[in-house]
Parts: sequence; C-alpha cells; structure tokens
Amino acid sequence: MNAEKKDSENISVVPVITIDGPSGSGKGVITERLAKITGFHILDSGALYRLVGYAARLDHIELDQEQALASLAAVLDVTFSPNPEPDQPLRISLRQQDVTWEIRTDQAGVDASIVARLASVRRALGELQISFRKPPGLIADGRDMGTVVFPAADLKIFLTASASARAERRYKQLKDKDIDVSLAALLKSIQERDARDTGRAIAPLKPAADAIVIDSTMLSIDAVVEQVTTLLKKGTGAWAFQQK
Ligand code: C5P
Repeated sequence: MNAEKKDSENISVVPVITIDGPSGSGKGVITERLAKITGFHILDSGALYRLVGYAARLDHIELDQEQALASLAAVLDVTFSPNPEPDQPLRISLRQQDVTWEIRTDQAGVDASIVARLASVRRALGELQISFRKPPGLIADGRDMGTVVFPAADLKIFLTASASARAERRYKQLKDKDIDVSLAALLKSIQERDARDTGRAIAPLKPAADAIVIDSTMLSIDAVVEQVTTLLKKGTGAWAFQQK
C-alpha cells in the first residue's frame, strides 16, 4: 500500500479493490462473488448513475440539464440492502421505493451513460462513493474506480471482453428471461455505450496505469474469480487477504 498516496487522500487504511471495465464484462457478478469470499462491502457505482437517470425521468428533468441533474445527484435518497433471496443482487431503493429491476433496463443504462458525461453530476456522486469505504474493506465496481475515485486502491482490476462476447452474454441473459431481442441491436447498443464511456472528456473508461487487465472473452466467471483471488491472496503491501 502506498502510505503517501493514502495520506494525501486523508482516508483510512480500509482496503479497496477496484473492478473497472465496459458494460457486460462481468464486473457485477465477479464483484458479488469476491464480496462473498472476502466479506467486503460492494459499491456498484454504475447503479448510482442509473439512479440519477431514473430519478430525472421521474422528476421530468431533461438529461442535458446539468445543474438540475447535479442537484438531484447531491440529494439522492438511495438505500442498498442485502437481498434475502440467494444469489440475487443487492436491493436498491430510491426514495423508499424498490427500483432494483427498474434501473437494470437497457434504457436505464443508456440514460446513465448520458448523465455520467456531466462533470457536476460526477462531482455530486463523488463523496457518496467514497462513503462506501468501510471496514473490513470495499470492492468498487465501475468505470473510474481505479483512475479517479480510489486512485490509491490496493488492487485494481480492469475487466474487459470483446464487444461481441459481451453482446452474446446479454442476449443469452435476456433469452433466459424470455425477452425477445436482436443480437445485432444489442451489439450496436454496447458499441455505442462503449464509445460514449471511453470517448468522454471526464473520467473516461480506461485502465489505471497500475491496473491488472483481465480479458474474460474466453474465460468463465470461475476462472476470473480464481485469478483475482490469487492476486488477493498474495496481498499487497500492508494487508494480506484472509479468506473467510
Ligand atoms: O455499470 P453500469 O452498466 O451499471 O453503468 C451504467 C453507466 O454508468 C455506464 O455506461 C457509464 O456511462 C456510467 N458509469 C460511469 N462511471 C462509473 C460507473 C458507471 O460513468 N464509475
């Protein structure tokens, strides 16, 4: 761990693992599996941008109204709670309403990537994201976790996969839920979102200089989890990972 960097950020020594990467690279599921293994908390930062977009729709705020969106983001009344159902994602409430599934639609993802381009929205969500860093540790998943929000993280992973592999995974997920979609349309939407996320001026999607890049195109979830767990077991500097 780099003590100098930690001091300059005036944050505690609670370990942080960042998992950044494009949509559909498997960050969410890998994060959840690692959280189970380590007992660490989860920050799903993408959910925060989704919530801003969703709240904007509820409040009839256009997605280019930067000041209004930043005000919304600054007072986002959101709760993440464990899901009583096994192997289900955290429950997310906005203004005391469960919106776990509502914010997972492809439209909510597109809206999120539009509001995520705005500097004041990103600033407004900054402190909220840092507040997730609590003992025994945090696994933070997003696009700029290792580059901007937790630049001194203990371990940084950049998880990627080819756009066609990611589109196929999403296609299969939707088919399994009997949702009819076209693979070509999914691929196009993923490519457009990638272009918005990597091409934006502020906090673009890119691996941190000290991130370990894992390409999951040909890897199973288990194989990725194993690679990251091996890195964790080696420990980094001041702390070594203890498997629960
Ligand atoms: O990860 P998820 O697909 O839920 O993220 C939705 C969108 O939120 C992304 O496409 C990206 O534009 C934005 N985002 C971001 N920074 C993060 C996490 C997500 O800009 N740390």
